[in-house]
Amino acid sequence: MGKTNHENLPAALGGAPVFVQTAESQGKLDPWRQMTEAEAQIAYDMTLRNELSGGTPVVREFEQMWREKHATRFAVSVINGTSAIHSAMFGLGIGPGDEVITPTYNWICSIAPAPMLMARPVFCDIHPQTLMIDPEDARRRITERTRAIVAVHLWGNVCDMDALMKLSEETGVAIIEDCSHAHGAMYKGRPCGSIGHVGAWSLQGSKPTSAGEGGMVGTNDVDIFERACLIGQVNRVAGLDLVTDKYKHLQPLGLGVKFRAHPLGIGIASVQMKKLDELNARRRNHIQTVEAGLAGIRGVQPVAKYEGAEPAGFYGFPIHHDPEEMGGLSTDRFIDALNKEGLRARGNGYPLLHTLPLFADGFDIFTRGRGPLCTPEMGGDYQGYQPGDFPIAEKVCSRLVFLPVFSAPVENAAEQVIAAIRKVAEHAEELAEQVAQAAD
Ligand SMILES: Cc1ncc(COP(=O)(O)O)c(C=O)c1O
Repeated sequence: MGKTNHENLPAALGGAPVFVQTAESQGKLDPWRQMTEAEAQIAYDMTLRNELSGGTPVVREFEQMWREKHATRFAVSVINGTSAIHSAMFGLGIGPGDEVITPTYNWICSIAPAPMLMARPVFCDIHPQTLMIDPEDARRRITERTRAIVAVHLWGNVCDMDALMKLSEETGVAIIEDCSHAHGAMYKGRPCGSIGHVGAWSLQGSKPTSAGEGGMVGTNDVDIFERACLIGQVNRVAGLDLVTDKYKHLQPLGLGVKFRAHPLGIGIASVQMKKLDELNARRRNHIQTVEAGLAGIRGVQPVAKYEGAEPAGFYGFPIHHDPEEMGGLSTDRFIDALNKEGLRARGNGYPLLHTLPLFADGFDIFTRGRGPLCTPEMGGDYQGYQPGDFPIAEKVCSRLVFLPVFSAPVENAAEQVIAAIRKVAEHAEELAEQVAQAAD
């Protein structure tokens, strides 16, 4: 290896970092503040109006805005994304003995409501380039008990909805779109969340449209909507606009279960929602500039998108890392070196669901040998999972590098991110050697 210009060395090899290394360094590149006076003002005004419970005018207006933006006939607010998924599953009639498929690379709350409804989660693998659910692997796992697939638009990327809807038509299995990471994403001109049978969104604090805590369920199917209201909207009459008389005899108390959103959170989300398109445009522009800049750097690659996918939300910004292509530099060491440049990169923070003790080993959720995760020793027939069951997710996710998502980046922020990655990549062999020597 030729002699290197010391000034250009990565910080991990004794050079100067690309970013100034203070806790503020990313802040300087992205001074965006999620919450502003406008969000504080609406919460203040609603409090003084005592609009603190039920389907208040702000809540109803928000739900209407949601219907229009997502092109669904129905939409109802709930306490969080988990209850949105729960309502969607209940809306579909998922219950005891049913199976629900989702990729092992997903957030636990996206599938956890299934066992709460006595249904069994069944995991499938992901596509190695897009990280989205692999529809063909999902197909292989369908049995006569399968009722739904939870397709998650992870990190703001978009699933192969054509393949999933085809699978659904062929098998009768419903599609739940979990859009928690992908607020505002589209597929072939249609809003995500309106393509499958039902969409669910988290509005939790770090999501692009934040209610602090909140969630939304949207659908074009009247029965799913009415059942979602039945399970979560106890005593809410105003603005629910139930269409049929099917459950009228149970209203207004429904099943007596309450998933109603806090109006203050929805008020805050209603301000956030108006900023979403602009926020998405800025995040998209930054991400696309960085992704384009990766083209000439060996060992890193953007996450692929399906034809017609318009990612949005951008809850995370993963890129693929290939240690073999990058001079043998491990993903962990690559991330360390980027951090030493002052770039806040990190590895994948989502455990693969099949590796969690809950799903790997089973659990007697309801005690006394009942529930969908009981193994034969517990009195059931749940088989659990082993490491190696999902080879693609296991390999690919361990090599992901998450770059910071900038929402209002200063000029040249993307170029600085690319510079840090390029600098480390160009010295990958030296860094890998340093690790090998340290291990000797
Ligand atoms: C993909 C996904 N689905 C569902 C949820 C659950 O949302 P909440 O935290 O609002 O309950 C989350 C939360 O982060 C999520 O990331």
